Amino acid sequence: MNDPQTLGDTSPEEFRRQLHELADWIADFRHDIGSLRVAPNDKPGAILAALPAEPPEEGEAFEKILRDIDRIIVPGMVHWSHPMFLGYFGWTTTAPGILGEIITAPLNVNAMTWRTCPAATELETLVIDWIRQWMQLPQEFGGVVYDTASVGVMHALAVAREEAAPSTRKRGLVGARAPVFRIYASEQAHSSAEKAAIALGLGEENVQRVPVDALLCMDVRALREMIAHDVREKFTPLAVVATVGTTSTASVDPVPEIAKVGRENKMWLHIDGAYGSGFAILPEYKSLTAGWSEADSIVVNPHKTLFVPLDFSVLYVRDLERLRRVFTLVPEYLRGDTVEAQKNYMDYGIQLGRRFRALKAWIIFRSFGREGMAARLRECVRLAKLFADWIKIHKRFELAAPVSMGVVCFRFVGPVAGIGDAGPGSTTPATVADKIDMLNSEIVERINASGRAYLTQTKLRGRTVMRIGLGNVLTTEQHLRAAWEMIREVASRL
Ligand SMILES: Cc1ncc(COP(=O)(O)O)c(C=O)c1O
Repeated sequence: MNDPQTLGDTSPEEFRRQLHELADWIADFRHDIGSLRVAPNDKPGAILAALPAEPPEEGEAFEKILRDIDRIIVPGMVHWSHPMFLGYFGWTTTAPGILGEIITAPLNVNAMTWRTCPAATELETLVIDWIRQWMQLPQEFGGVVYDTASVGVMHALAVAREEAAPSTRKRGLVGARAPVFRIYASEQAHSSAEKAAIALGLGEENVQRVPVDALLCMDVRALREMIAHDVREKFTPLAVVATVGTTSTASVDPVPEIAKVGRENKMWLHIDGAYGSGFAILPEYKSLTAGWSEADSIVVNPHKTLFVPLDFSVLYVRDLERLRRVFTLVPEYLRGDTVEAQKNYMDYGIQLGRRFRALKAWIIFRSFGREGMAARLRECVRLAKLFADWIKIHKRFELAAPVSMGVVCFRFVGPVAGIGDAGPGSTTPATVADKIDMLNSEIVERINASGRAYLTQTKLRGRTVMRIGLGNVLTTEQHLRAAWEMIREVASRL
């Protein structure tokens, strides 16, 4: 039998001591992160092998657990907040963000209804509106915070589906005699559209990929043709996803033209601004917002661009009541905790229990202010352009796409001993270009395996290219120079 004296939580004195130790641990980690390997070089399974397979029977001291974190967990990680982490969209760990996460932990509320936590609900409403103001979205847009953009697009398409086939919510697609719907997104759009179609029973194949133009933006003429073809084949166009900041190159689809096509065909317009929309806080990027006011929904990921740690994504819907109508459902046991006149965020999605995500965003936005965030985004654009300039003047590399926001896609093109020059447009045989593809992959693999930097690769027009994403507040010009040097050195050794 446990002695009741030892039950309950850690004693306040002990907890205070642990917190001080943790504060030092976090400050040291942040201070020294640049000296860590960016990515581990362990074989798969190494972490599991280093940890006991059986769950602990008795409690262990925090110090011992922290030692294992230092010994096994930290070295087994890819450090996304490392200044040499140049993968995906850079990263958004900041001191105010860490403080925000720490403060959220002891509060540990469930922001499902207004009554279960008025402050969490009202702060969420406030932060959503701050972002709306920064994005210059009309007031008729209301939002809800989800974990990710993937969840956002799924909810947006659920509303589109309900409006196009009323009572699908009640009867299901078959019961509501829904037609076979089609959704359109560019070849460069994120795969979350397909995931949404899978989850909503719309069918992965009914997400049609629209070809892109030379700048990797949706070809609106092709969109029109695909819709016309589908209508002839008795499909029903449901929605079009326009991307502002595509995953590979951060290209921006022509939203006003897409909106026009959407209007003509009575389709839902969803804007995937998961990455790019954050740049709208910069006056010089105002053109990004063209056509947004015509959208039915738009997703913004402050955890990609606005310095909020994962996870924090906002889905805006023009007239948020449309979203509520599709998802509101109050079980009896929650009636007492539901004040109808107030916002109950559980009504705006499938999730019931919800973290207090707004707190960390509010802390970051107040700590930096719009100006502070804008200055950091400008620096990331400056670094991206600088890197692109280095690529442009080097004869063995070329830019693989126009540089947009913090993303640079580039390709090593040779000449390589024995196989000549195989840059795009070259008349060399496909096998040579394939070899160059392999070399580009190999450069990324070798750099990542070295633990000194981390980049990613993608395919553009069928060819492998290297890609860097800037956005980490710790990444300086010096880091970027070191990465560029490393890329050239690895390429020349290959
Ligand atoms: C353009 C775009 N949309 C959506 C997503 C999905 O984001 P999330 O991880 O928040 O679901 C990504 C992920 O990188 C993305 O680049």
